[in-house]
Amino acid sequence: MNDPGGDLKPLDFEPRTAQFREEVLAGLRSRPKTLPCKYLYDEAGSRLFDRICELDEYYPTRTEMAILRERIGEIAAVLGPDDVLIEYGSGSSTKIRILLDALDRLAAYIPIDISCDHLQRSAEDLAASYPDLPVLPVCADYTGTFALPPVRADAARKIVFFPGSTIGNFEPEEAVGFLRGIAAVVDRGGGLLIGVDLKKDRAVLEAAYNDAEGVTAAFNLNLLHRINRELEADFDPDRFRHEAIYSEEHGRIEMHLVSTVAQTVTIDGIEIRFEAGETVHTESSYKYAPEEFAALAGEAGFAVERFWTDAKRLFSIQYLVVA
Ligand code: TRP
Repeated sequence: MNDPGGDLKPLDFEPRTAQFREEVLAGLRSRPKTLPCKYLYDEAGSRLFDRICELDEYYPTRTEMAILRERIGEIAAVLGPDDVLIEYGSGSSTKIRILLDALDRLAAYIPIDISCDHLQRSAEDLAASYPDLPVLPVCADYTGTFALPPVRADAARKIVFFPGSTIGNFEPEEAVGFLRGIAAVVDRGGGLLIGVDLKKDRAVLEAAYNDAEGVTAAFNLNLLHRINRELEADFDPDRFRHEAIYSEEHGRIEMHLVSTVAQTVTIDGIEIRFEAGETVHTESSYKYAPEEFAALAGEAGFAVERFWTDAKRLFSIQYLVVA
């Protein structure tokens, strides 16, 4: 069915420069300063993130993959033939291969990702590996609006796959709204297979977000390089440093870029002042105890039907159904 050499041009809703500029300026004008984390994943950022996933300290990817592999029989059993599998934030599409290897006759696989070129390449690789599977990529910010491509008329349920504990990168209230959106997409009868990182020892968490090799620092700082490249800005990334701290109170890792000196940066002619030590909050990563996440999912209209974890209870994969 898939043409092996064929171009899989994604349906394209990628955010453009004007929107990027507006969101960057709005974030840097607020107090405390922030930058939207979705822009971490440009071409260079996506490559750095793939390297983070392979770090010794970064346990989530490895642990999630191990749970997937170990429990694939049970996980595949909750998905049926003729289902449409929709992946939010597919990145390099490595985790999905574990699922696709165990499932046959899916009606379609729809990977959604904000990084268009990266998406197209991984969609083409997947289509070549699974010649009978319709791979229908959509390039979009999945927190915004986008359309799904048409699928076979006799397709069964819609199931969203949302791994990587990206749900933890939303503020809890936003996470509820976002999950409500997924419930509307999959509708009654549909489901959500989601990776959720669990609460654990602070030292383990802080190492995972501040690795010895500095890959996470480079990933965070790449956002400043990207702003320079795309928005006529003059950030000196050497005058900022990466910081990751676990807040017990909020149950979250906070990622910051700290201005090491007092400085003024110009973005497209607009001056932004930084005090020495002033931080720009780039991302949070919330960690949820199982009962905390069940409550949050419940608010969004989902019920947790299955819960899989590893022996050390570091990470979980959960299957939620629209209640
Ligand atoms: N979803 C990932 C997480 O929260 C994203 C992530 C990992 C990340 N390391 C990061 C985001 C460093 C920003 C900076 O675990």
